[in-house]
Amino acid sequence: MDPYRAIDAQPDPAEFVERLEERGETPSHARLRRRFLRFAGVRGGASVLEVGSGSGVVARDLARMVGPRGQVVGVDPSRTCVAAARRLAHVHGLDGRVAFRVADGRGLPFRTGRFDVTLAVTVLLHVDEPAGVLREMVRVTRHGGIVGAQDQDFGTLALEHPDRELTARILDGVVEHLYPEPLSGRRLPGLLRAAGLRRVRLMADVFQDTALTPYTQRFLEHRAENAVKLGIVETAVAQRWLDAITDGARAGRFVMTLNFYGATGVRP
Ligand SMILES: C[S@@+](CC[C@H](N)C(=O)[O-])C[C@H]1O[C@@H](n2cnc3c(N)ncnc32)[C@H](O)[C@@H]1O
Repeated sequence: MDPYRAIDAQPDPAEFVERLEERGETPSHARLRRRFLRFAGVRGGASVLEVGSGSGVVARDLARMVGPRGQVVGVDPSRTCVAAARRLAHVHGLDGRVAFRVADGRGLPFRTGRFDVTLAVTVLLHVDEPAGVLREMVRVTRHGGIVGAQDQDFGTLALEHPDRELTARILDGVVEHLYPEPLSGRRLPGLLRAAGLRRVRLMADVFQDTALTPYTQRFLEHRAENAVKLGIVETAVAQRWLDAITDGARAGRFVMTLNFYGATGVRP
């Protein structure tokens, strides 16, 4: 089961906070996240809701974008994440600029039309019924306001590796079992139109790593661990797969890319 659906039920929920912060600081990820927030048209003074705010990486960017006249609220079902997001906002000097609440995207505790902009970043791929979350996002956004989502699309993960067959078996096999919506990215425009949004626009972007950063290394180690747990490969095979990646990186051959799709629409 996808651990992001129930972070607090995992053996070490704090590990997910660390992972999200590590991803957030990875330059390629920071660039594509901020590019999406600009694409979504977040402006100074806006009132913005982030659904599935995790450790608060995106909400902190939003708080800086809307400035002191704006307002940012992040909601997440994980108490661990909400507590960490509050603490980290304080550490980053954003006290009073962003608020976090425990809430599920399927039932948002806000009145209809409350926000100018409502966003979900790398969340819809983790939920069972993305259309239900989106319906709520549309409801709490004012008429003429913006609703947007950005998700990776695991059908586009490209990794340079000498064993292509094994790489496909591990990467495709794990995501098919792990995520309810592994190809969520490419489905976002259709999902937004089906939710009744107008003027739907798509921005595709690419995460890239050519240095095997600690974030990517951990990401691939988790894929290997899951492949073993799911019975896709034996432990020794998973280790050999990881070793070939490390060797490739030492020889300057490492490349991993992953497409992210960001879609926005206007609430009629
Ligand atoms: C990969 S994290 C993304 C966090 C943050 N948006 C970011 O990009 O750093 C996914 C988040 O979605 C949250 N989540 C899972 N199910 C949810 C639901 N039904 N409604 C709202 N958030 C949910 C998880 O608790 C987790 O914090």
